[in-house]
Amino acid sequence: MEQFMNNMKKDIVVGINPLLVTFRCNLRCKLCSTGTPYKKNKADFPLEQLKSVVHRQFRIVKFIRKLSLGGGEPILHKQLPEFIEFLMSEYVERFETLEILSNGVEMPSEKLLNTLQKYKDAIYVMLDDYGELSRCVRQTSDTLSNYGVKHDIRCYYGENAYCGGWLDQGDFTHKFDRDCAINNIRLCISASLSKNNHGVDKRLWRFSDEEFFIKYVCTVGDKMTRCARAVSTYEAGMIPNDPDSFVNLLDYSKSIEQLREELMDLFSKDYYPACEYCNGYSADGERFPPAEQLC
Ligand SMILES: C[S@@+](CC[C@H](N)C(=O)[O-])C[C@H]1O[C@@H](n2cnc3c(N)ncnc32)[C@H](O)[C@@H]1O
Ligand code: SF4
Ligand code: SF4
Repeated sequence: MEQFMNNMKKDIVVGINPLLVTFRCNLRCKLCSTGTPYKKNKADFPLEQLKSVVHRQFRIVKFIRKLSLGGGEPILHKQLPEFIEFLMSEYVERFETLEILSNGVEMPSEKLLNTLQKYKDAIYVMLDDYGELSRCVRQTSDTLSNYGVKHDIRCYYGENAYCGGWLDQGDFTHKFDRDCAINNIRLCISASLSKNNHGVDKRLWRFSDEEFFIKYVCTVGDKMTRCARAVSTYEAGMIPNDPDSFVNLLDYSKSIEQLREELMDLFSKDYYPACEYCNGYSADGERFPPAEQLC
């Protein structure tokens, strides 16, 4: 118990934190890992909510190595430049890199390009290239080069598709029992992020003398969670809600200590009901052509 209490006092450090800024998108990918095309309410998360979430998050978490803005298609968020301004002016010391993911379908606005340029030392843009669908990917890359913004194009089509293609998490129907669900999350990329690294506890988090290190946690709206798909599909009413599988950052009836405890608890659980509704998301899973579109 004493050891547990001591651990509770440690600083929490996160490796990768995808933060979804919108559920709007200019594509409708059938296998989208955040379930974006299946959401009924495809809105941007309001800027003020995003700011409140980040304020609260950085009271719980001391440092994030890679804060990755995603969605949906993040560059469609009308106030993305303002949100980046906010992150850079208030929290630049609290993360190493700010990544922006984009599908290369549309060009970033002039305003966004200027903001990216202003903070180019800490910002990195990852352009996912879905072949013909990503019609602006080259032009975006050239423009980012002109603005001096670091970026990469990740090939997601043809024989050399990154990782051999996408995984198929399934159609949200109930398929598995508890044991299968435990196996699903044990092998899930959200837990491992690495092909060679199996064995739940060590890969997912670790204590050191100074810190409690969480390799991967997502922020979806007001929630921190191990699985963006699970939270976005609870919220869409597609699978039953499970309040134990996320931390509600904007629940002001809870203290920061309570939220910290809840976040650490997320990583001691080996069962999430949502995994009964998912084929799994294992790095070793069968691969499919990325970004196939729904009719
Ligand atoms: C949900 S997308 C959001 C960002 C942006 N709309 C995009 O597609 O690049 C985040 C990342 O998840 C990847 N992704 C989406 N569905 C996937 C799947 N079923 N398997 C593997 N990766 C997937 C995308 O390629 C992208 O890099
Ligand atoms: S994976 Fe496809 S549908 Fe999902 S957010 Fe990215 S572009 Fe949109
Ligand atoms: S539902 Fe479970 S297995 Fe599927 S992606 Fe989420 S955490 Fe992984």
